[in-house]
This record gives sequence, structure tokens and C-alpha cells, in this order.
Amino acid sequence: MAKKKDGHQAFEEFYSETYKERWPSLKEALLSPKNHLVLYNPYVHGDMPQERNFLELPYLYESHGEELDSHKDERPLPFYFLDGASAIAPHQLHVAPGEKVLDLCAAPGGKSLILAYALEGKGSLTANDKSENRRFRLQRVLRDYLPSEVYDSCIRVTGFDAGGWCLYEKEAYDKVLLDAPCSSERHLLESPHLLKEWRIGRTKRLAKNQWTMLASAWLVLKYGGRLVYSTCSLSPLENDGVVEKLVKKFDEECKVIKPQIPRAEETAYGTILLPDRSGHGPFYLAVFEKQTQD
Ligand SMILES: C[S@@+](CC[C@H](N)C(=O)[O-])C[C@H]1O[C@@H](n2cnc3c(N)ncnc32)[C@H](O)[C@@H]1O
Repeated sequence: MAKKKDGHQAFEEFYSETYKERWPSLKEALLSPKNHLVLYNPYVHGDMPQERNFLELPYLYESHGEELDSHKDERPLPFYFLDGASAIAPHQLHVAPGEKVLDLCAAPGGKSLILAYALEGKGSLTANDKSENRRFRLQRVLRDYLPSEVYDSCIRVTGFDAGGWCLYEKEAYDKVLLDAPCSSERHLLESPHLLKEWRIGRTKRLAKNQWTMLASAWLVLKYGGRLVYSTCSLSPLENDGVVEKLVKKFDEECKVIKPQIPRAEETAYGTILLPDRSGHGPFYLAVFEKQTQD
């Protein structure tokens, strides 16, 4: 009888087939320390210098050893640490004050904070997460980083299944972010016990789940609205593979927008930042507009 493949071996085979000769250097970059960003709080800092901004995104800087300890009794807190490129996704929604925004998988809340800051206290942000523990953290982040009157007037924290949201609301939001649960290979590589259990079925299952959520996200988006789908996965099944289904199913009303992001690599439907070439990521995102048909 053939010996059952070890998870680590199956993982290596899948990703070396996917990334070919690039895989060794990509893996090495995945194993090196992450680059963190600091999101300064506009309610505390007012205008910030633009020159050193990360990718010219407002209030985002490469981290320079900032520490929150000495600020722990202040509210709102002055800055929040984010993982590398992930901050790009909420900015691609181009949120404007007064809009109705939905973040379907929001905890622990870094991207929700960026969305909330873009609203400037006008409009609404629904920050959703199915996990009770993580939702508790999400709520705390939003309370700690927003003035209480902004939290009370603009923020709603919910705990629904993103994949079933469209059963209750349709064409209801101007902007929707789906930062989907994914393979998160960087995390897997740091966890030998998880890696040992890896099977290709894992990324396939996640992709199926992501598709259910993305289809739901699309249905809750208003016509004329914008949707961003993102993952921190390297697996094409969870990235372009999921997006392709959306583009095929909603063909004429689904306009794919290709964002121009320095050091990012264009894929069939989106863009990916990989750590060997960009110093950030992995982070995949795809941007869509929902067009009315005339
Ligand atoms: C990639 S993380 C989100 C990170 C978050 N956007 C941030 O920037 O801090 C994915 C989240 O999806 C949540 N999640 C998983 N399945 C879900 C579902 N079916 N519906 C809603 N949330 C879900 C997880 O609890 C997890 O917090």
C-alpha cells in the first residue's frame, strides 16, 4: 500500500508546482519577519506629513519602533499596527463620507478602522465577524480607536455568516469589503503542527467557502457600488480561481478594476503583492464595480 503523503510534503509539492523556480526564494521571504505598518489615528494626529507615507496612503507609515505601552490609558489610541500590504484593500474601496459600508469579515479590525476613518464620522460602517472571540476584539479595537460619538453614530458590529448575508439584505451597501478567511500560508509555515496536517483539500474547501461569501457580497452591493475581495493566500484557487466564478456568473454587470499598486504583480483578475519582490504580503486583491445594464 502506498504510504500516505506527509502534509509538509504535499504543501511543498503544491506550491512548488504553482510557483515553479520562484518557490524557494518566495518561501524564504515568507519565513523572514513581517514588515508592519503603523496606521496613525486622524482623530489624534490631525494632518500628517505625506512624504514618507506607505504607498502614499493616508496615515500609513512603515513602523519605526513605535510602542503603544506608554499610551495605554489614552483614548482614542494614537496608532494601530497592521500587517504589511493588507491596508491597501480598504483604500481600494474609495470610501467617501456619508456612504453605507459593509466589512463582512472584519476582526480584528485594522481594515475596518481605515474604512471608519474614511467616513469622517458621516455615514455608516457595519463591521461583521462570525467568530465571537474575534468579534469581541473587533469591538474593542473600534471603541479604542474612534471617538465615542463617532462609534455611537456610525458603527454597527454584527456576527452573521457572510455567506448567508444576501438572504437578508440585497443591493443595500455602497461599498463592501470581503477580506476572506484563507490558507494564510505564512502562518502555516510558522506552525509545524498545522503544516503536518495540510492537504490540497484544505485550499479547495476554503475556495468553496470564499465563493459562497463572494457571491453573497456581490448581491448585497448596490448598483454603482464597489466591492473588494482580498486574501493573504498564495493559492490561485483562493484568489483568481474564486474571482473568475464571479466574473463569469455576473458577466455584464461586473466590471473588474485593475488597481495600479507599486511592486504588485498583476494576475488575470486582480493584483498580488508577494514578499520576495515587494517586501510585503502575500496579499491578493480584486476590485469590482457593479454596473447597471442599459
Ligand atoms: C482574514 S480575517 C479578517 C481580518 C480583518 N479584515 C482585519 O483586517 O483585521 C478573516 C475573518 O473572517 C472571519 N470569518 C470566518 N468565516 C466567516 C463567515 N462565514 N462569516 C463571517 N466571518 C467569518 C474570521 O473569524 C476572521 O476573523
